[in-house]
Amino acid sequence: MLRTALFSTALISLASAHTAAWAKGMYCRGGADPTKDEPNTRTAVDPLYNLTKQDWWFQHDRGCDLVPPPADEFLELPANGHFTVELAHNRALTTLSYNGKYATDWPDGQTHPDDWNSWTGPGSSCLDDGALHAYNETHAAGTAWAISYESELEKVTMENLVVFSVLKHTPWKRMATYQVPDLPACPDGGCICAWLWVPDGCGQGNMYMQGFKCKVTNARSTTPLAEAQPPVYCADDRTKCVKGAKQMLAWHQLTGNNIETEWPVAPGYNEKCGWKEGAQTDIFAGSKRIQPSVSSTAVSTTLMPYVKR
Ligand SMILES: *[C@@H]1O[C@H](CO)[C@@H](O)[C@H](O)[C@H]1NC(C)=O
Ligand SMILES: *[C@@H]1O[C@H](CO)[C@@H](O)[C@H](O)[C@H]1NC(C)=O
Repeated sequence: MLRTALFSTALISLASAHTAAWAKGMYCRGGADPTKDEPNTRTAVDPLYNLTKQDWWFQHDRGCDLVPPPADEFLELPANGHFTVELAHNRALTTLSYNGKYATDWPDGQTHPDDWNSWTGPGSSCLDDGALHAYNETHAAGTAWAISYESELEKVTMENLVVFSVLKHTPWKRMATYQVPDLPACPDGGCICAWLWVPDGCGQGNMYMQGFKCKVTNARSTTPLAEAQPPVYCADDRTKCVKGAKQMLAWHQLTGNNIETEWPVAPGYNEKCGWKEGAQTDIFAGSKRIQPSVSSTAVSTTLMPYVKR
């Protein structure tokens, strides 16, 4: 019965399915009704398009900014390490629901070849998993995380929300691992983070911004982040790329945009807007610091803490 109920709901939602990041610390993990913990929700998944700044900011349009995670639950970001989240079209397709029994290697709960590709030349259709908005892995535009050293969502601004990690060619598979630069510790109440994505075509030109409570673990640095500057589309001219701390991309909204491109050109969390792959090491205030190299062993104990429950 459960399977039938789940899949009929999933089927209904797949027609317009999109992708969100699922992990501890997320807003709207159980949907937008704080009295319920819905295992089969996709409230946090839908994209943002042609909304006022007030409405798109942390998914206020669907009430997600008002549904924080439980007190003391944070997405943990190990300084100079990495963290893993699940990218999926519905909570039911992650390990956050049904003990993970509907989760596969892919965001849609199905199986696909590693070289899944619909590109055969100009005029190709996009992958039938339209929620990935791509033809193939290399065409996946890239997703990112930003952090604000404010504990209250109301105090987060475009200027204090800094993109700190970029993962090329995502969303693609369900598990996505992001590198963390030498971030300082958060205030006692934690930080506010956002998961971010702008697809490169394959659908309406929209954007994704999803809220998390987060905190930095193993922090050693005390160097604060610089004020974030608006990114500039620079695929045509590298000298236009903004260096250092950058804001999220606010694109194709009714108000609050910080970047414009001529459709179908899309900005993205990639080189086209001056972001290199991985931890963003040039986002700190003051003199340039030499960043220690990222250790791949330092953080294994903090990976996927919810799996151990
Ligand atoms: C955007 O929203 C405004 C106000 O709701 C509406 O008038 C306009 O037609 C919309 N534009 C697009 C491109 O959907
Ligand atoms: C992936 O899609 C892009 C289109 O954006 C295309 O240029 C590229 O050749 C494709 N890769 C493969 C392996 O077909």
